[in-house]
Amino acid sequence: MSQNETPLFTSLLKHAEKNPIQFHIPGHKKGSGIDPEFREFIGDNALSIDLINIGPLDDLHSPKGIIKQAQELAAEAFGADHTFFSVQGTSGAIMTMIMTVCGPGDKIIVPRNVHKSIMSAIVFSGAIPIFIHPEIDKKLGISHGISTDSVEKALEQHPDAKGLLVINPTYFGFAADLKKIVEIAHSYDVPVLVDEAHGVHIHFHEDLPLSAMQAGADMAATSVHKLGGSMTQSSILNVKEGLVSAKRVQSIISMLTTTSTSYLLLASLDTARRRLAIEGREIIGRTIKLAQWIRGQVNEIEHLYCPGEDLLGTNATFDFDPTKVLISIKDLNITGYEVENWLREKYNIEVELSDLYNILCIITPGDTQKEAEILVQALRELSKEFHHLAEKVHAEVMLPDIPLLALTPRDAFYADTEVVPVEESEGRIIAEFVMVYPPGIPIFIPGEIITKENLVYIKTNMEAGLPVQGPEDDELKSFRVIKEHKAIR
Ligand SMILES: Cc1ncc(COP(=O)(O)O)c(C=O)c1O
Repeated sequence: MSQNETPLFTSLLKHAEKNPIQFHIPGHKKGSGIDPEFREFIGDNALSIDLINIGPLDDLHSPKGIIKQAQELAAEAFGADHTFFSVQGTSGAIMTMIMTVCGPGDKIIVPRNVHKSIMSAIVFSGAIPIFIHPEIDKKLGISHGISTDSVEKALEQHPDAKGLLVINPTYFGFAADLKKIVEIAHSYDVPVLVDEAHGVHIHFHEDLPLSAMQAGADMAATSVHKLGGSMTQSSILNVKEGLVSAKRVQSIISMLTTTSTSYLLLASLDTARRRLAIEGREIIGRTIKLAQWIRGQVNEIEHLYCPGEDLLGTNATFDFDPTKVLISIKDLNITGYEVENWLREKYNIEVELSDLYNILCIITPGDTQKEAEILVQALRELSKEFHHLAEKVHAEVMLPDIPLLALTPRDAFYADTEVVPVEESEGRIIAEFVMVYPPGIPIFIPGEIITKENLVYIKTNMEAGLPVQGPEDDELKSFRVIKEHKAIR
């Protein structure tokens, strides 16, 4: 089969053209039984391929036909031995990677600034996380990846680890020397699992960092939906056999996946793969140029700074994906959240994320010069409007501290707990997650000792209006902590 073909999408179209009389789910039956306003809006085309795993349409849980063919084409395009389609986002693919290599009591080496799906999988599997400190950029207030030195140290101390997880590239586009990290891990026979949520496109252009498969990693959870043109929630899990078994991956992904898999999502993966394989290099090349143009323009605006290649050269910033346009606004003396709202109200612009000091705009093949110019124009006006507040902020920005882990996340999650007011929680062991979402990096994970610094960090984020999430008490007045058993008098 050639990369021009889309076995899954094409078969769905042929099936819909036959217009079969359907006595199976979904009960809307090609849209006839659905709310008319929704039908009108979404269109009969989409509804006609919103189908289910009947005989001719294969089954994601045991692919033997059109899904298998589509996955094989994806594996070829991504340089993997096997590709698994995920309709549970990259979160589902990440949980699969971890649960494939770890069982209860097994060690897994992970950077502390991981997405919540990684910590969820650690709780589900009962694995013990061995944390590596990510490199911190105190000027920008962001975390980068992990360095080769820290990987070397972690493996020297824990050669029995069952896996090493790497985020590559980071949300902000920085990549570590993944090839070297893989070489180090493989010298210990430890498989490398890559969170490639923000890097589906890097495989298709030589000016971008090496992809997980190019670097020789064993598994990669890759968000096709984020930057690769498929529909939201659709991702892939790429696997290289050797240290991991594809059969084991198939069983685990199946355990974590709905039995009612969306064919719209699956078809969008099939077609996104075709576009990336056939036109990827060209469209990504254009995207890189557009993003670099924006970066250049932003860097000419007073008080704003858009990092790029200038940050390369440290052990954790080995390479960079310029399509992530991170804009530091801290010299304007307002928060990223205020800028996010200002852009929404004044320019109808929605950014990918904001934090205390930055906003992040992602540039994809879906953008054109027109949108880029509007963004630059908006940022010029922003700089003028807040010029009176601006001052060079030399102070280092505030970042959450990495607390001590007193219990495994699973033991803490399932322990006997009680609820205490936040003001009385310092020093206690937390039993829930606390994070700012996006980006969803935990400030506390179950099992960690609550620190004063992180309580201040949470308060500062909440006061700035940023979305702190996780605890049962969504007003964050109390935390669930491990119950202390005092001696009985
Ligand atoms: C670094 C990272 N990993 C994993 C994920 C999870 O991806 P998904 O939303 O497709 O489940 C995200 C989502 O934002 C992410 O930023």
